[in-house]
Amino acid sequence: MNVLEFQKMKNENQKIAMITCYDTWSAKLLNESDVDCILVGDSGSMIMHGLDSTVGADIPMLAAMTIAVRRGAPDKFIIADMSFLSFRKGLKDTMDNVEALMRAGANAIKIEGVTGHEEVIAHIVGSGIPVMGHLGLTPQSIHGLGGNKVQGRSDEAANLIIDQAHTLEALGCFSIVLECVPSELAAKITNKLHIPTIGIGAGSATSGQVLVMQDMLGMNDGFKPKFLKTYLNGAELLTKAFNQYTKEVKEVSFPGLEESYK
Ligand code: KIV
Repeated sequence: MNVLEFQKMKNENQKIAMITCYDTWSAKLLNESDVDCILVGDSGSMIMHGLDSTVGADIPMLAAMTIAVRRGAPDKFIIADMSFLSFRKGLKDTMDNVEALMRAGANAIKIEGVTGHEEVIAHIVGSGIPVMGHLGLTPQSIHGLGGNKVQGRSDEAANLIIDQAHTLEALGCFSIVLECVPSELAAKITNKLHIPTIGIGAGSATSGQVLVMQDMLGMNDGFKPKFLKTYLNGAELLTKAFNQYTKEVKEVSFPGLEESYK
């Protein structure tokens, strides 16, 4: 996959499958899978570091995760997230942050929102770096949005997201994540835009889908938003394995002769 194939896939009506990843061992699994591309999302700050929101993520954290993912997935197209405020403190700082992620092994970066950082996006695109936009629920703005809620429900809010999507396309973004918006709105935007959209909680009409790996693997028992489908009972399976190991250690059936050196 390269950046041009995103457009090709939309043109040919092929859906794009993206999964988040933050570490080498799961990146190795993705590298061998059919998934089209990997997002090193700032959700890694919550999934891997236990923070309450993505506001706590920063560029060193994202760069470290990108390096780890690139090591495990040398063949996949990797998009790395620009963290909270990392693109809002002037062009020099922004470009240093973009450079850190690209040198860490990203093929593209993702930026939330558009209002107030149009010039920054144009400059990054003009520097030859593919930019993925992100509209609708933009979790870095959780405090401004008053929580993680579906966005674009009123006509006014929907029209704002449509305008923002057009702006991102005009600025040269190669695709846009639409997070937690009504399916009809996501369909409308996908039909109006030339570039592909990638949905999460945005229905089936988007050009592709993204899910957080640990969520789709069922690793997070307490997290069951409407948009999530789990493909594995990960938490249950892993807990069973931990408990089986613990039982065998305690009853001294592990290690056995097979696992012991003579
Ligand atoms: O960080 C992330 O995981 C994301 C996806 C939810 C799109 O931005």
